[in-house]
Amino acid sequence: MYTGKVAWITGASSGIGEALVYEFVRRGATVVASSNDLPGLERVKAACGDNSAMVHCVPFDLADTSEIIKIVEQQINTFERIDFLLNIGGISQRARIDETPLWLDRKIFEINYFGTIAFTKAVLPYMIRQQSGHILATSSISGRFGFPLRSAYSASKQALHGFFETLYLENKKFNIRSSVIIPGRVRTSISIHALNAEGKEHGKLDDGQAKGILPEHAAEIIIKGMIRNKREILVGRGELFLLHIRRYFPWLFFRIADKIKSM
Ligand SMILES: NC(=O)c1ccc[n+]([C@@H]2O[C@H](COP(=O)([O-])OP(=O)(O)OC[C@H]3O[C@@H](n4cnc5c(N)ncnc54)[C@H](OP(=O)(O)O)[C@@H]3O)[C@@H](O)[C@H]2O)c1
Repeated sequence: MYTGKVAWITGASSGIGEALVYEFVRRGATVVASSNDLPGLERVKAACGDNSAMVHCVPFDLADTSEIIKIVEQQINTFERIDFLLNIGGISQRARIDETPLWLDRKIFEINYFGTIAFTKAVLPYMIRQQSGHILATSSISGRFGFPLRSAYSASKQALHGFFETLYLENKKFNIRSSVIIPGRVRTSISIHALNAEGKEHGKLDDGQAKGILPEHAAEIIIKGMIRNKREILVGRGELFLLHIRRYFPWLFFRIADKIKSM
């Protein structure tokens, strides 16, 4: 189905991004797999077995975008096109506002927001030139409302909505699609790698996370949403209902959110 297409996936060394690598390879696409963890990317490539030659590992740090234009140019020289850009990489937070130093707010924004938009801005001119493409960004249900211990995370994800809705409106005329993925709970390492007030890993799989859907299921939902050209792709189960409660019954949302122990 995607034979001859090139998909570039960030966050490809684990969780949702990893599951998307397998799904795109299964559908015949060439995949450029990125994250900050080369051994992790090589593990994912090896797991593709006979199809591992379709996966190209290109590590880079979303917190350091100084080389991003050069990295994108190199891949364009090799593959001549990028059909799908899936911005999946990101980091979460487990720290109250009063204990989070400003450098940590900035770090979370650098990875979740500036890294994602810098990469997108480096790829966009090539998609405009080829007059096609689909760009996705990964928000969260906490990118639609505030949630305890996630101040910078929630704010960085909310910022992505403004950027990617604008990207869609400006570039529709070039036949470029754009979608924002809104996961609820997916069973990945996101809570384990979430940053605490010292900027260290939280180190725990939170209860809510453990009850989430599997990353493979998330990848299937995302690809279905892409095929249907959805502006927003909701990924999860009952927890997604909170989005509607927040929108239509805000007073009820604040009561519920106060009582939820982990998400
Ligand atoms: N799982 C959920 O329930 C959930 C809910 C809402 C939103 N999300 C969003 O879904 C996306 C994927 O997360 P996940 O659940 O799959 O978690 P995950 O298993 O922890 O994967 C996160 C990915 O992001 C990459 N990443 C983190 N910091 C990076 C950096 N500085 N530079 C480059 N890559 C970096 C990680 O690579 P490294 O190994 O290089 O760190 C990893 O590949 C994230 O944007 C997250 O916010 C997840």
